[in-house]
Amino acid sequence: MARDLAIDLGTANTLVWSRGQGIVLNEPTVVALNTRNGDVLSMGHEAYAMTTTTPSHIVADRPLRSGVITDFETTARLLRLVFGRIGLSRFSRPRALLCVPSALTGVERRAMVQAAEQAGAARAQLLEQPMAAAVGAGLPVHEPIGSMVVDVGGGTTQVAVISLGGVVATKGVRVGGFDLDAAIQAYVRREHAMAIGDRAAEQLKIEIGSAFPRAIEPRAEIRGRDLGTGRPRTELIGAEEVREAITDCVGAIVNAISATLADCHPELTHDVITGGLELTGGGALLHGLDSRIAQESQISVRVTDQPLTSVVTGAGRTVEEADDFRDLFAG
Ligand SMILES: Nc1ncnc2c1ncn2[C@@H]1O[C@H](COP(=O)(O)OP(=O)(O)OP(=O)(O)O)[C@@H](O)[C@H]1O
Ligand SMILES: [Mg+2]
Repeated sequence: MARDLAIDLGTANTLVWSRGQGIVLNEPTVVALNTRNGDVLSMGHEAYAMTTTTPSHIVADRPLRSGVITDFETTARLLRLVFGRIGLSRFSRPRALLCVPSALTGVERRAMVQAAEQAGAARAQLLEQPMAAAVGAGLPVHEPIGSMVVDVGGGTTQVAVISLGGVVATKGVRVGGFDLDAAIQAYVRREHAMAIGDRAAEQLKIEIGSAFPRAIEPRAEIRGRDLGTGRPRTELIGAEEVREAITDCVGAIVNAISATLADCHPELTHDVITGGLELTGGGALLHGLDSRIAQESQISVRVTDQPLTSVVTGAGRTVEEADDFRDLFAG
């Protein structure tokens, strides 16, 4: 029997929903790459494990940049590995719904569909990520009411206004969680003369990062390498510092929201101002991001329940209840 799948191939995380089963895969979008011949050997946790036990020409790589895979072969290979990871044999031909950024061009859309078919899908359809997130959040996507979704992912932030089953206004900015991590690394380098790794920066962001002042500002210890002596060093860093490090990135997210609203028909703008916006994606978990957006844009903000899984959950719902959502699929 054909398996129906919904797939969110994110810059940071790949999730798969299988009809009747729910989420069957949730792993980092990392591949183990053979740098000698470009072969993609495994994906997700398995790829990390592989790179620690194999020769040095096998490296871990994140194949997506800013939410889009530019390389057709890698996309197809990654999807084939994903199908394998969820237990599909080489001969089963799933029907796949791929969640894609709204900003993809026609050529990129066709490339995604073809890559899925090359990976073994019998049929591939596309669903825009903000639409999937809106369905996942239970927004009234079919109604003639404007609903705003802000999805802060690893590599991008997508702002979209949805009405009557379609995305009516959208803006994407190439600022996501990875950029916050990079900004924290740059700050620590500049202000503390220390080099820290990406994972340490991400951990610092998750532990004490914030976009809005808190009553009690926590501190955390960071380990890194002193830029002068080259030796390992630890230092205490405060939440205010992390907030300062990421403030420009957060500002870019807020600006994208204002710009999208400015582009909308006044009636839709009115709907969003009265109805509030839905904040989702892993970045929605950043402490105080909701408060900062609410304060600067004067719109109330709801953080989606389970923001890391909202896109695949919404896409999964359109697969489970296909008759109610047929009109949403874009090609
Ligand atoms: N508690 C947290 N606080 C702040 N950021 C977090 C938290 N938890 C996860 N993140 C960040 O969320 C990001 C991943 O989010 P998500 O899985 O939604 O991205 P993605 O869908 O893979 O990327 P994209 O949509 O850009 O392609 C990472 O940068 C991660 O650091
Ligand atoms: Mg995403």
